Amino acid sequence: MTKVVAITGASSGIGEAVALYLAAQGAKLVLVARGEDKLNALVDRIIDDGGAAVAVSADVARRDDLVRVVGAARQHYGRLDVLVSCAGAMPIGPLDDLAVDDWDQMVDVNLKGVLYGIAAALPVFREQGSGHFVNIASTAARKTTPNQTVYSATKAAVLALSDGLRQELAGKLRVTVISPGFTNTNFLSHVRDDKLRAQMQEAAGEFAMDPQAVAKAVGYAIEQPEAVNIGEIVIRSLNQR
Ligand SMILES: NC(=O)c1ccc[n+]([C@@H]2O[C@H](COP(=O)([O-])OP(=O)(O)OC[C@H]3O[C@@H](n4cnc5c(N)ncnc54)[C@H](OP(=O)(O)O)[C@@H]3O)[C@@H](O)[C@H]2O)c1
Repeated sequence: MTKVVAITGASSGIGEAVALYLAAQGAKLVLVARGEDKLNALVDRIIDDGGAAVAVSADVARRDDLVRVVGAARQHYGRLDVLVSCAGAMPIGPLDDLAVDDWDQMVDVNLKGVLYGIAAALPVFREQGSGHFVNIASTAARKTTPNQTVYSATKAAVLALSDGLRQELAGKLRVTVISPGFTNTNFLSHVRDDKLRAQMQEAAGEFAMDPQAVAKAVGYAIEQPEAVNIGEIVIRSLNQR
């Protein structure tokens, strides 16, 4: 695979696993997150292993930052073939807490971050005559549970957005949405409430899967012939209902 792939949320968890998997397949990467240290360490690791990667520190909640990400892909590699929108926020809790700032963050990162990526990459994909959006949703998009309501709503929106985009771009560009179930990442650190985090930690021990499984699903969607579009992949551990 010689594709140029930009990955948001690449410094941790699923995004990091996707970066390492695609780098090993020969992809040229633009790795995106807000924090620079972990991103730079990942770039060094990939380059040491013979891969190609650059880091771009960016906040997906800022429209201009995504423009900068796409610009970096073109500057370093001359094009962008795939945008994997994986950055996510999960400061979950009961709606009754009225943690409106957390609601804003989830909408800004999980939904608007994906939209801003589309706004930045679509003109480039159109100009190239090829391109692929891979959006990371969640099984929570279809099955919400108490405390996850706003998170689920943002992921349901990503699902709808991805399918609408796929239909609008049919015949021209590819769109894939991947819905992982519970995955072993840094995500629990987003949960502020100690009791809720402990409950989720216990559930993670029962049925969280390795992020490598999601990385392989992303690779599968990207590797298909250009005339084939993988619309949606739902992937969860065997133990998750
Ligand atoms: N873990 C699960 O069980 C699970 C299940 C289904 C779906 N997902 C989805 O998978 C995706 C990745 O989550 P994860 O579980 O891998 O979590 P994670 O380990 O906490 O990683 C989150 C990544 O997103 C980045 N990020 C957060 N806010 C950002 C922003 N505003 N701008 C740019 N980057 C930002 C983080 O880096 P910085 O903080 O440095 O910016 C980090 O690289 C999310 O979309 C999540 O909803 C996770």
